[in-house]
Amino acid sequence: MTRTQLRIAAVGDLHVSKTSQGAFQPLFSQISDVADVLLLCGDFTDYGLPDEARILARELSTAMKIPVIAVLGNHDYESGKQHEIREILIDAGVTVLDGEATEVHGVGFAGVKGFAGGFGRGALGPWGEHAIKAFVQEAVDEALKLEAALARLRTHTRVALLHYSPVRATVEGEPPEIFAYLGSSRLEEPINRYRVSAVFHGHAHRGAAEGRTSTGIPVHNVAMPLLMRVNPNRPPFLIVEMPLDEADASAPPAEPRREPLVKSA
Ligand SMILES: [Fe+2]
Ligand SMILES: [Fe+2]
Repeated sequence: MTRTQLRIAAVGDLHVSKTSQGAFQPLFSQISDVADVLLLCGDFTDYGLPDEARILARELSTAMKIPVIAVLGNHDYESGKQHEIREILIDAGVTVLDGEATEVHGVGFAGVKGFAGGFGRGALGPWGEHAIKAFVQEAVDEALKLEAALARLRTHTRVALLHYSPVRATVEGEPPEIFAYLGSSRLEEPINRYRVSAVFHGHAHRGAAEGRTSTGIPVHNVAMPLLMRVNPNRPPFLIVEMPLDEADASAPPAEPRREPLVKSA
């Protein structure tokens, strides 16, 4: 039978701690049963500790039977051990993206952590003190890495994977005072330019589940605390079906279909 769609499962912000042993295996088994690929949108760990990452790696190795693609989150940087965390996950078979791209069944995935700085007219500009310019440059660099990753993909369907949000809409619900720390509009530019089919991110635990970029590209906030809040009776992951379209890559990408999570609640 010809495959016509890819079932993408996505979740972020697992915040695995030293006491999480065994907590995620049932979730990963369930995801393996209903999806073709899993996206992990950063904040795997609570304090950025290698021991936390090892617990996650064991859970994934035991229960996961589908490809896993991930980006790191800010919590994974907390202890300055992000490179070690990355290696632990790679050893467990996870494809960790930091400005790179990968393909699963003909669908392209580009990933970066992203950064903060705010949205639209409220976005922080590179003006004044060196510290402000360095802060803004970090967001610019992340956007450039995302652009480079998207440019490498030759697939018709392209998916972007982030930790920080590229749009304001999916951080709505958080205190307005912290919107600017939850993402950056600079990340939206390459997403629009490369006509990405769908974006997944985490980080805004109290944000909104769905938004769109200025050109209408769907943006899904899959932070686990948010998914648990909006669908308390369902397992905390999102399923989006992505059409596998062999058509001319110059054609507009097909619209993904968001599934109401999974069959087995
Ligand atoms: Fe988080
Ligand atoms: Fe975060």
